Amino acid sequence: MKALYKPGPQSGFELVDRPEPAAGPAEVKIRVMTTGICGTDLHIQSWDSWAQGIIAAPLIPGHEFYGEVVEVGEDVRDVKVGDRVSGEGHVVCGICRNCRAGRRQMCIHTVSVGVQRDGAFAEYVVIPETNAWVHHDPSVTPELGAIFDPFGNAVHTALSFPLVGEDVLITGAGPIGLMAIAVARHAGARKIVITDVSRPRLELARKLGADLAIDVSTTRVRDAQLELGMREGFDIGMEMSGHPSALPEMIDNMNHGGRIAMLGLPSQEITIDWGKVVTHMLTLKGIYGREMYETWYAMSAMLSSNPVLHAGISAVVTDPLPAAQWEKGFNLARSGMGGKVVLDWTQL
Ligand SMILES: NC(=O)c1ccc[n+]([C@@H]2O[C@H](COP(=O)([O-])OP(=O)(O)OC[C@H]3O[C@@H](n4cnc5c(N)ncnc54)[C@H](O)[C@@H]3O)[C@@H](O)[C@H]2O)c1
Ligand SMILES: [Zn+2]
Ligand SMILES: [Zn+2]
Repeated sequence: MKALYKPGPQSGFELVDRPEPAAGPAEVKIRVMTTGICGTDLHIQSWDSWAQGIIAAPLIPGHEFYGEVVEVGEDVRDVKVGDRVSGEGHVVCGICRNCRAGRRQMCIHTVSVGVQRDGAFAEYVVIPETNAWVHHDPSVTPELGAIFDPFGNAVHTALSFPLVGEDVLITGAGPIGLMAIAVARHAGARKIVITDVSRPRLELARKLGADLAIDVSTTRVRDAQLELGMREGFDIGMEMSGHPSALPEMIDNMNHGGRIAMLGLPSQEITIDWGKVVTHMLTLKGIYGREMYETWYAMSAMLSSNPVLHAGISAVVTDPLPAAQWEKGFNLARSGMGGKVVLDWTQL
């Protein structure tokens, strides 16, 4: 099969022929149709210090994918050949304390598809049956199915705290921040303000229904509050940029008792005013991955019940490309100007 491959501890990928993987007893083999390009993949491509610390090369990267099941292991009970699935990329141990308690997203032995085991920038990928999310709704297209992983990040973050009637600040209008706008709207938020420094992304944010999309290289969040007639501060914050200046400004703009869900992976150390966290009684919650599998249930349920949300999330895929054009796709993703880039593995 064709696959994007990192043959060893060095930068770059090659599109090469690799042996097809075989499904183990409790695994399913998937013919990959689409794979999303994520920031993680850019780190793996450039082989920065984060990648060097975590990646087991040789490796086929790719963890945001959709495809059709073509083979199931002998112990597979529910997933069938022909099922259309998206993949949960966190493979958990099943026996640690959190796994046994049903909190699989908190597994202490998580192994990530496309990071520590071969992933989905390939014609075929193998994952445990339990990691395959079967789509029963035909309106989930291969492009939409490819972004269930980052959509799940947005849903996990946005649904961390009740949103009905709340004023929401999202920092970072990358693909996940953009999707969080649509989810917060679905979940009943009042005002939604989003920040970024990329004009095209701020434009996308307006299309997705943000009340205000502000460029923090020129405008302060405080000014956004004034413009919207807010008097006390944001009730809910979602940090989705990882930029060290976003969280301090968010903290400065929260109402007392405000709650902050943090998804963005900090690009460097972040200094915050802890005094304010204490005296304003703020809650900060770290978010990693998706709840397994309540987030997945919520994603499918919300998409099938809300056409506006369905259209909004679908619109976050701005650059579908044949997998043969993977280099162009990676460059587009690295530019940070559009939404999600999705490679089509049926077009090689
Ligand atoms: N915790 C998790 O499980 C998880 C999973 C996936 C991604 N992430 C992280 O979540 C974040 C968002 O991911 P994404 O895929 O949307 O990617 P992304 O990195 O493309 O989005 C980040 C956005 O933040 C913007 N930005 C830069 N400086 C800013 C500032 N000062 N204020 C506001 N915005 C600013 C960038 O222009 C970009 O549009 C990234 O940090 C990513 O590493 C976390
Ligand atoms: Zn990802
Ligand atoms: Zn575990």
